[in-house]
Amino acid sequence: MKITFLGHATLFIETENTKLIVDPFISGNSLAAHIDMNALKADYILITHGHQDHVLDVETIAKNNPEALLISNYEIVEWFSTKGINGHPLNHGGKFKFDFGTLKYVNAIHSSILPDGSYGGNPGGFVLTTPSKCVYIAGDTALTLDMKLIPETCPPLDLAIFPIGDNFTMGYEDASIASDFVNCSKVLGYHYDTFPPIKLDRAKAQSHFRSKGKELILLDIGSAISI
Ligand code: NI
Ligand code: MN
Repeated sequence: MKITFLGHATLFIETENTKLIVDPFISGNSLAAHIDMNALKADYILITHGHQDHVLDVETIAKNNPEALLISNYEIVEWFSTKGINGHPLNHGGKFKFDFGTLKYVNAIHSSILPDGSYGGNPGGFVLTTPSKCVYIAGDTALTLDMKLIPETCPPLDLAIFPIGDNFTMGYEDASIASDFVNCSKVLGYHYDTFPPIKLDRAKAQSHFRSKGKELILLDIGSAISI
């Protein structure tokens, strides 16, 4: 599995046979100006919650990839269906087997409203399980005890993707505790630097993780890791 960081909370995930885009927010992110959104090919668009900084470019990507299926909670899938975008609704605790593997929608402690003020349902994260790997994409969330359910209910994680920018989500200190809760010491950080209140001191965050015997991966926008 190859995961490319496209800035903020936007991920491009390539499994053996499938391309997934998570929470596309590229055109609104000046730090991601070098990313050509129109070149992105996607089979699926995953949305954790309805905030603008997670859904801004969904319509453009859906238009460029008319076969792509949107996966989110029921309310978000309904909202995008009125714009002609096909979706598969999940709700919290539910999982479904797609052609790339299984996706489970899990709790996040946050808020959610769609850009026009419509109700966005409750926010969530995803546990993505392919035949060879398992990754937890936390979405925007606080540290929550619900994370302890993930190792109880999902395969062992190869990677946890956590927001670390603080202010709107947990910061890196809580994210290091979250990595204990989910039994995964390999963490990819996201949701930082995009806006002034979430500016990250990278060296401090990474040394905090190192001091706990954990790894915090911070990717340049446009670069990737393979797991
Ligand atoms: Ni949010
Ligand atoms: Mn956000």
